[in-house]
Amino acid sequence: MSEHMQDQAMKKAFVIGFPISHSKSPIIHNHWLSQHQITGIYEKIAVDPKDLKDFIRQFKQQNYQGGNVTIPHKEAVLDYVDVIHPTAKRLQAANTLWLQNGQIHADNTDGYGFLANIDQNKPYWHQNDPVKQALILGAGGASRPIIDGLLERGFDIILTNRTRERSNAIVELFTKLGYQDRIKAIDWQDRNKAMTGQSLLVNTTALGMSGQPKLDIDLSNLPKTALVTDIVYTPLKTEILLQAQERGNPNIDGLGMLLHQAVPGFEKWFGLCPKVSEHLRNLVLNA
Ligand code: ATR
Repeated sequence: MSEHMQDQAMKKAFVIGFPISHSKSPIIHNHWLSQHQITGIYEKIAVDPKDLKDFIRQFKQQNYQGGNVTIPHKEAVLDYVDVIHPTAKRLQAANTLWLQNGQIHADNTDGYGFLANIDQNKPYWHQNDPVKQALILGAGGASRPIIDGLLERGFDIILTNRTRERSNAIVELFTKLGYQDRIKAIDWQDRNKAMTGQSLLVNTTALGMSGQPKLDIDLSNLPKTALVTDIVYTPLKTEILLQAQERGNPNIDGLGMLLHQAVPGFEKWFGLCPKVSEHLRNLVLNA
């Protein structure tokens, strides 16, 4: 086979960000490629924000099927794609791009990843729950897709963030989308009081991650039946999850969200819906 033909047979996908060296996504996708014996590769590419437009317009010519988009490109990328799917449009941010009939499509799979992680670990977790009430800590990039997914699942949301303007902006966004009365913001200092009556607690801040400040939180007012989750997965058992475990609350770590958000992209680029396994979890953890 000539080099050109080999390149044609090789299916390629990317993850772009700036910086990108920390990304664990290649471990996930290259594991699935080898597991399913697909001739393909998933590559990390550092793309400077000033080069984003050129990269998006040209990846087709370089034989990429599409890829993932991470910080700081998740919002800006929407200016350069052809078709923006509804979730990405609502959230004004995309993390997954793929080609379809020569056009570049964009969607956001972070909310899906969050919910799929819980669904896999605690099937039917909220179906018998008479109260669907979630307290969300943090109004950064990870917060919006999680709130979006939870609103669609019927949860009412209380959002708290150190900087009140950012939580207000999210409330405003979802109010415009028709979710008024289902989401409200409270002050960061009231977070512990607000745990009363919640059925779900989610940390979407980076607090508690190795190298970051501690998440200062007290779960005393949280019902013992409430599910506690964190998006931080280094360490795997964060302070909030340890507190939950100690008082007997069900809890789920954040690694699964990273793994599950990768599934829809892989399926688009490589044509097969992969499984999130314990083996994959360990690969990423030990990397
Ligand atoms: P990203 O967009 O990547 O999620 P981010 O915008 O910096 O990153 O968001 C990080 C989240 O952690 C925010 O909710 C942030 O609160 P602010 O909006 O007030 O910055 C929160 N956060 C970071 N450091 C914090 C701290 N020391 N105390 C409370 N919240 C903190």
